[in-house]
Amino acid sequence: MAKNIVIVGAQWGDEGKGKIVDILTKNADVVVRFQGGNNAGHTVIVNDEKFVFHLMPSGILHKDKACVIGDGVVVDPEVLVGEIEVLEEKGIFNGDNLHISKNAHLIMPYHKRLDISKERLKGKQKIGTTGRGIGPAYEDKAARVGIKCGDLLDEKLFRAKLKRNIAEKNHYIQNVLHQVGFETHEIYHKYMEITEKIAPFIKDTSFFIYKAMMEKKKILFEGAQGTLLDIDHGTYPYVTSSNTTAGAASVGSGIGPTRIDKTIGITKAYTTRVGEGPFPTELDGKEADRLREHGGEYGATTGRPRRVGWFDALALRYAARINGLDGLVITKLDVLDNLKKIKVCVGYKYNGKKITDFPTEASVLNACTPIYETHEGWLEDTSRIKKFDKLPEKAQRYIRRLEELSGVKAVMISVGAARDDLILIKNPFSR
Ligand code: GDP
Ligand code: IMO
Ligand code: MG
Repeated sequence: MAKNIVIVGAQWGDEGKGKIVDILTKNADVVVRFQGGNNAGHTVIVNDEKFVFHLMPSGILHKDKACVIGDGVVVDPEVLVGEIEVLEEKGIFNGDNLHISKNAHLIMPYHKRLDISKERLKGKQKIGTTGRGIGPAYEDKAARVGIKCGDLLDEKLFRAKLKRNIAEKNHYIQNVLHQVGFETHEIYHKYMEITEKIAPFIKDTSFFIYKAMMEKKKILFEGAQGTLLDIDHGTYPYVTSSNTTAGAASVGSGIGPTRIDKTIGITKAYTTRVGEGPFPTELDGKEADRLREHGGEYGATTGRPRRVGWFDALALRYAARINGLDGLVITKLDVLDNLKKIKVCVGYKYNGKKITDFPTEASVLNACTPIYETHEGWLEDTSRIKKFDKLPEKAQRYIRRLEELSGVKAVMISVGAARDDLILIKNPFSR
């Protein structure tokens, strides 16, 4: 039996990770977020009630399971407290099952300001970030000036680090951006107030996970963003500032890579992307509008309309390689139900030649034209179907083709946003 499973986005994010993590939490004991921050927006719909989690692991609706915000996450404590309060009001959160790494870096108010201002300065070259301060927080972490969640527990140390950071940031904010700077005492008081709420949860989460593993508990690692947004392996510079791929589950939660049993990639039956950057199979005009409306493709974090396009087999095969995928979850199959023709990109034309391996360079991708194969649509409602062999034959063939092109078998097919809208082929926790 597989005990420790990593879930990652296999595309540019928003593949439906939240829904799948919520479902798999039933079989797990601990759910761990290991990277990213509240740039993530993970939707879970239960009994017609919709939750969008930005920092909370998507397993949090299962009261008896432990949820961990791991070392590799960047935490905006205001957002976290907001999420805690919503869950408290609904009687879902009791404080026993949340564990926040003392090593997780804090997103500070100046990170948000810098994120937004730097994007504005970039003009046409902007990345289209979520404006949540993710990049600047990871910059400070790499520059070794970041402030960690654990620092909140030592008021003096926190104040000293804050003071140093503000002096440096204000220099840039006032002299380069010509904006009003930040005041140490204001942020200090605000963060100390927040600390009262979260201090009990801040701990050595790597040790917590280790102990759970020693007790033979099952751990689900919940990735945020997607493979193509990975800072090393994505479409740089149009990426986020963390490693979003499966390897990050180990470093981002402080467990050895040998402990991971399986890696599962989530992919939509088509493709979406939010923000700027290359997207070879992108659609425009009416065709795009239709897919966007049917799929409800609006950002869960920023509400921005998502860019939409056909399924890209080169990108998925690449994700399978980079993450070492053992299984696929294909989501939003139902969104294609009313299409007469469905295209799948099986190659790119680049400089007059056909290529079949995904290039990550933005300049190369921008010069690629997709080569498509066209599938007949099934034109039937799949949203109530619970068994693979009950799917229309054309839908089965479509799925089989995606498996063939990516070299990875589907373990689940999602046919709607709710928990029950699922075809389970093979439980990832089974052997
Ligand atoms: P995540 O960031 O990967 O967790 O994905 P998001 O929550 O940002 O976006 C996925 C969106 O698709 C959410 O609105 C989900 O409720 C919805 N969703 C997930 N799976 C399905 C599905 O199989 N069919 C449909 N129609 N919607 C789905
Ligand atoms: P989930 O976990 C989709 C995108 C942004 C932008 C780029 C950099 O819900 O799948 P950042 O704020 O991280 O510096 O922005 O990354 N992005 C996402 N796109 N889903 C996400 O998260 C994303 N998180 C960041 O739109 O293009
Ligand atoms: Mg999302």
